[in-house]
Amino acid sequence: MRKFLIAANWKMNMYRQEALELIRGVIEQTKLFPSVDIMVAPPFTVLETVNGEIQNTQIRLGAQDVFFEESGAYTGEISPGMILDAGCTYVIIGHSERRQYFHETDEIINKKVTAALKNHLIPILCVGETWEERKQGRTFLVLNQQILFGLQGIDNEKLSSIIVAYEPVWAIGTGKSATKEQIQEVHAYLRGVIKEFTSSNEMAFNIRILYGGSMNPKNAQEILSQKDVDGGLIGGASLNIDSFSSLVQIA
Ligand code: G3P
Repeated sequence: MRKFLIAANWKMNMYRQEALELIRGVIEQTKLFPSVDIMVAPPFTVLETVNGEIQNTQIRLGAQDVFFEESGAYTGEISPGMILDAGCTYVIIGHSERRQYFHETDEIINKKVTAALKNHLIPILCVGETWEERKQGRTFLVLNQQILFGLQGIDNEKLSSIIVAYEPVWAIGTGKSATKEQIQEVHAYLRGVIKEFTSSNEMAFNIRILYGGSMNPKNAQEILSQKDVDGGLIGGASLNIDSFSSLVQIA
């Protein structure tokens, strides 16, 4: 049975003191729920601050992005070895905001996934369609491309550690999540794509697929009860101790 993962994507929020208060509150309110995996992805600037607090807890550290080179003249970039050195276990790759604002292509995302795996990080590969693509009936075509290009050239052994996050772009930050039916339909489809890509029923069954897009304590129960949902990638609701901790308790 796949273990639930509740992952926090703090995005570009939290200075040091705020980060300390938030993570200390989350530790306090989630320590009685060890059966749920928890990841927190703060901004790079407070990775070490948060890492110092989560030692000896079930909470693991994640980065919100990573470059695909190990070192060199790449001003402003952070390598997989550096986020590993900062204490990260996970790394979010291909978030729609990076695809939109920073023009990350499937090719760049594939290089990042490959580099993350090479450094024994767990990639969380984000995929999702825009409202326009959904209205045009292109959801599955877009998702199929994002998965196949994002995972190109990666063997099944490496694939076994990858996590996929379905984040419909039109539900991110809107307060209105996709319906449970839409979510289950897409998650089941994604599991089918993985089965085809790996030629393995076991891989398809075992890969964890998270949902992201306005998940909150009000809708989490019905979303997490969907057969092919294995957790959530949480934005806004992860910035509040009570709401994020409630999601862990619901899971
Ligand atoms: O990566 C998770 C994020 O995109 C979801 O954001 O605020 O809709 O929970 P939000």
